[in-house]
Amino acid sequence: MKKIFPMIVFSCMTAVVLLICIYRSLQQEDAAGGTPEIADAVLGAENMQKDAAWEAAMTADVTPGMALTTGAAAEETDMTVAADATPETDMTVAEDATPETEAVAAWEKETTWETEAEWDEIKRVALTFDDGPHPVYTVKLLNGLAERGVQATFFVIGENIPGNEEIIARMDQEGHLIGNHTYDHVKITDLSVEAACEQVERTSALVKEITGKDTEYVRPPFGSWRKDLECSFEMILVLWDVDPLDWTTCNVSDVVRRVLEAVGPDDIILLHDYYESSVDAALLIVDALMEQGYVFVTVDELILE
Ligand code: NI
Repeated sequence: MKKIFPMIVFSCMTAVVLLICIYRSLQQEDAAGGTPEIADAVLGAENMQKDAAWEAAMTADVTPGMALTTGAAAEETDMTVAADATPETDMTVAEDATPETEAVAAWEKETTWETEAEWDEIKRVALTFDDGPHPVYTVKLLNGLAERGVQATFFVIGENIPGNEEIIARMDQEGHLIGNHTYDHVKITDLSVEAACEQVERTSALVKEITGKDTEYVRPPFGSWRKDLECSFEMILVLWDVDPLDWTTCNVSDVVRRVLEAVGPDDIILLHDYYESSVDAALLIVDALMEQGYVFVTVDELILE
């Protein structure tokens, strides 16, 4: 399918070009006394060809993870590979005649098995921070992450939000994912269904007031969760793979070492932005893992794979 698709697009485009040539020659005939009906018929056929090309493009079996979008105007073919595919494959077909074939060639080249295998080999890891926001340490962490161009996931406590609304807004603006860590750090399994929902709903409402988004990703304190919860918004449970117990020590290098010894591709690392030592450790962990070729993603990118 991967090879057939560009061939279909190419064939249809070739047909369109041929029809344009016929149409133009008929137009010249028309100027010299040809019948306008023939020209109209050719134009109609040409449009049908275009429609068929778009139909093929829209219904084609595109490789998972790649989205094919077409512009509203029929003349503009805007083929974009979604951000979760390789970023270089963003190609736009210009309006003039030749670039279509170049774009098809580029498309074919970029969607080979080799590049997909390379994509699968990317070592992804998600940094997650519980218990914030903290007015000082979370800001320090956001500064460090911004300097490194890294996004993380923050499971915030509702009662820490009032007074720190700007920090929540900044997390959202800078591409971090904001998750829910209950309103006042309770053990969900100790509560009734109603009380448990109130815990996550209060926090989600505070975040939504700032960002306009619900906190779909929930990390329950102590990792204890009850599956029978159906609250007012969709919830996705997020636990972790690497827990350095950062809150048990102020020793930055201990935290760094514990994480680096345990981490592997597709892991979720648990840290707390409520302690300065954890924040300092987190930035050292980022530097070390970047050097090892890791790419930092938010938890939704690991969980929804
Ligand atoms: Ni916690």
